[in-house]
Amino acid sequence: MQFQMTWPPASVMRAGALQDLGPRAKAYGATKALIVTDRGLVDCGIAGRIVSELAKSGVAADVFPEVQPNPTMKEVRNGVALWKKGGFDLLIGLGGGSSMDAAKVIAGILLTGRPLIDMVKKGVDDVEGTPVPFIVLPTTSGTGSEVTSAAMIKDDDGRKYLVRSIRCRPAFAILDPELTLTVPPRMTAATGIDAFIHALGAYTNTSVNAIADVAALEAMRLVFKHLVRAVETGSDIEARTGMMFASYLAGIAISGKGNDAIHGLSTSVESLVDVTHGESLSAILPHVLRFNIVTNAARYANVARAIGLDVAGLPDREAAEKAVAAITELRDRLKVSRSLGALGVQSGMIPRLIELAAESRSTQINCRKMEKSDIKSLYEAMV
Ligand SMILES: [Fe+2]
Repeated sequence: MQFQMTWPPASVMRAGALQDLGPRAKAYGATKALIVTDRGLVDCGIAGRIVSELAKSGVAADVFPEVQPNPTMKEVRNGVALWKKGGFDLLIGLGGGSSMDAAKVIAGILLTGRPLIDMVKKGVDDVEGTPVPFIVLPTTSGTGSEVTSAAMIKDDDGRKYLVRSIRCRPAFAILDPELTLTVPPRMTAATGIDAFIHALGAYTNTSVNAIADVAALEAMRLVFKHLVRAVETGSDIEARTGMMFASYLAGIAISGKGNDAIHGLSTSVESLVDVTHGESLSAILPHVLRFNIVTNAARYANVARAIGLDVAGLPDREAAEKAVAAITELRDRLKVSRSLGALGVQSGMIPRLIELAAESRSTQINCRKMEKSDIKSLYEAMV
């Protein structure tokens, strides 16, 4: 048993936790906040509610609603330019992974002034100075970005990069499941399956971290208990709360152990085709699982127990196969994607996908070593 752990940022979670935002902003000495978010959260009124909560504590705010799904450096640069003009002293990331990740990279540039590729290679934690005060409010349950030190961002060439920084992750996370009640079913499904795949990948990969394992197993249990309900009855606050907690725990799991080849093969796809992260992951999920259980049946058998399957007395390999069947059945019930071909991936892209996937750290720590020939066979089966 061993672990090495950097605990997540200060966090509060409860229905109605949004009320803590104003007092927390005041505690940072803030006078004016920049809210990094997307247009949808402006249109549905949630961004306005955040502005109102801050105003109750005498904190002004401007909304920067330019973040798109799979955020780009162009959006980040626009956010940095606005910050520099506006006299801001508090950064807020409001939304799903895209908005929180864009805000993290904005914080990284404000601290270092580095171009993206330097932040990817050198990180941002070696630079002197103090990061800007930074609060996040997730409005979907899945990415775990509220906990992690990682941000996915596209450069101007469209390729996705991962920026990691302990110092530029949020200083405070406000988890209010009421903010997720209006997320549409398809987005609830796609983000929820992402949380499950974080936990599954972290639990089964080659990294060692006992705390992350505990978080991962509980996250998987929570997803099996709550995700279908959250998709089918969006107003169910108990299911929304369970999923928000699952996302948070899965974020702790990947912070401690990283992901696996499901993410490694998906990030490559997301670099070449404009797809939703959870949709791409869902198409890849069962293929990598069937590849993996050959070498790591004992861990997948534990997954079977965590998600509530009756596998008493079964050999590990049979229990692992039951887990794969149940996970695939959940994916199909959620009606997220089943094939990369349907998402626009063409066979001519496979050579480039193989190169990108093989370079991914997530692929490299997959429980069963993946040669390029393995990656090729997997992609060919998915397209
Ligand atoms: Fe993910």
